[in-house]
Amino acid sequence: MIDPVVVDWQITSRCTRNCGFCFGPKSEPDLSHRDVRKVVNNLKNLGTRAIELTGGEPLMRPDIDEIIQYIRKLEIGLCLFTNCDLYFQHRESIIENVNVIGIPIEGPNEDIHDGLRGKESFVAVMNALKDAHSNSEAKFQICTIVSAQNYLSLESIEHILYPFEDRIVLWKLYELINYPQKGQNNKFKIRKKVFDKYCMPKLGKRLDKNKILFDTLKRRNRSYFLMKPNGDVFVPLLGLHPREFCVGNLLAEPQKTKENWNRWVSPEGYAKPYRSVFRKDLELKRQFLD
Ligand SMILES: C[S@@+](CC[C@H](N)C(=O)[O-])C[C@H]1O[C@@H](n2cnc3c(N)ncnc32)[C@H](O)[C@@H]1O
Ligand code: SF4
Repeated sequence: MIDPVVVDWQITSRCTRNCGFCFGPKSEPDLSHRDVRKVVNNLKNLGTRAIELTGGEPLMRPDIDEIIQYIRKLEIGLCLFTNCDLYFQHRESIIENVNVIGIPIEGPNEDIHDGLRGKESFVAVMNALKDAHSNSEAKFQICTIVSAQNYLSLESIEHILYPFEDRIVLWKLYELINYPQKGQNNKFKIRKKVFDKYCMPKLGKRLDKNKILFDTLKRRNRSYFLMKPNGDVFVPLLGLHPREFCVGNLLAEPQKTKENWNRWVSPEGYAKPYRSVFRKDLELKRQFLD
């Protein structure tokens, strides 16, 4: 049986934005602070070494600073995926505790990025990136969803990332995930063939090619330990009709959930370096995963 060494937790479904492509949870209730701590304890007991907080927007939780500090107190590695809207309200706890900040950049300028994420998002992410680069030791995972609106701008995104390249561990280009039941808009989708022809061959002129990864639906299939706000654990099944398959609840039945997850996850897919930023960086790996 394998341990869920790296866990992705959609810790809240609330958000400051409403991006049309978003596959995140919608209108699901948060756990209480006490139950969040119980889930973190349960994860520690199951062998978790790194938690990637995502959402929704994790910084929307009023107790997020305490959660961040609690995770680090248990010596669990922490990656925080944030749209950066509330970065400066939580700056201190982020720059002191977070090992990796996951920052979304959808375009090289306001026109393209804000066209996809909404007003003032580009300024927010660039200000957070500059601040964390100058004033913390955090590393960065940059996230870009490759869409019809930005696939011709990926080289220019690489250009604006260059000043931060010393601390970028991973630039993950996501193939758009479209769950039909979540009412996402299909206008963003490009075909993999188009990506293969126009995108990847042009990248890697400024950033190390090894840091750039196209995370396809195929790679994502059965290779996550993904938690919902309430502690339900899901395995993404990404065939013809993508869905998230629930294997149990981490608050109610941690051990049984781990066993059931083991029946569904692909151990090879889960263990691959591209699966998580903690596996992609030797120093993080030594610190948390070895
Ligand atoms: C759901 S968001 C939550 C964290 C934060 N609110 C943000 O936007 O970065 C986590 C990551 O999932 C990506 N994402 C959202 N919808 C997606 C989709 N339909 N397909 C692939 N990636 C998606 C986002 O770009 C982001 O990098
Ligand atoms: S900011 Fe993140 S969670 Fe919020 S709607 Fe956009 S992608 Fe989804």
